[in-house]
Amino acid sequence: MSLKDKLIREKLPRHVAIIMDGNGRWAMRKGAARIFGHQNGVTPVDEVVKASAELGIDYLTLYAFSTENWGRPVEEIDALMGLLVSTIKKETKKLLDNNIRLLTIGDLTKLPENTRMELVQLIEATAANTGLTVVLALSYSSRYEIILAAREIIKDTLEGKLSPDEMNCDTFERYLQTAGIPDPELLIRTSGEFRISNFLLYQLAYTELYFTSKLWPDFNTEDYYEALLDYQNRERRFGKTSEQL
Ligand code: IPE
Ligand code: IPE
Ligand code: MG
Repeated sequence: MSLKDKLIREKLPRHVAIIMDGNGRWAMRKGAARIFGHQNGVTPVDEVVKASAELGIDYLTLYAFSTENWGRPVEEIDALMGLLVSTIKKETKKLLDNNIRLLTIGDLTKLPENTRMELVQLIEATAANTGLTVVLALSYSSRYEIILAAREIIKDTLEGKLSPDEMNCDTFERYLQTAGIPDPELLIRTSGEFRISNFLLYQLAYTELYFTSKLWPDFNTEDYYEALLDYQNRERRFGKTSEQL
């Protein structure tokens, strides 16, 4: 029985988030420049998007560039932004043909103008699609997302649009960039690092975490199925006891 056949549709996560890490090390091990790793990180993106759409997963959030990544050498940043534009151009047809919607979280205003324009165009072009939603986290910082939410909440409270008694999880979540998107049930991080790196700190409260030592350019559809299968075999207790479930 193949890994795919072992997956139980009803037990699949609705939302998978991935920290796509290890491109630089993958390239270095091959004696190549880091950007070669980023270039080879596009195929696994294709594979997880395709597999998610086929399996009927609703949301796939991909951590592509963090706020902290702006601190990298300028040549690497430029190459990454260039790669983003060329990938968007290449993927547009695929997203449209497969009813995939694109969203972003993060501070797009920090991106170079042409990159931002390409992204905005693709977001608009796919806005009415009803299949898989791919959420690209770009120039994203979860702490900053929470701080921005706090700012807006204070503003709305001062303007009398919100009363302190109304504040609860549902209200708070409406102020996050992920408003309307369910929390991920599964987080995958490649490259053998065991950390969250400022990703979805609020949203991951009860997410199942899956770490693999595979470097992102080596991650493939079978690895993805393996992570999903691992998820299906977990017992999510949400604070209760096994017996209560
Ligand atoms: C992940 O791979 C891609 C980005 C952060 C943009 P890295 O570039 O972090 O690769 P490593 O972790 O240095 O190997
Ligand atoms: C996290 O990877 C960000 C992305 C995958 C885009 P990093 O490589 O930037 O994370 P750290 O710095 O090792 O924690
Ligand atoms: Mg890294």
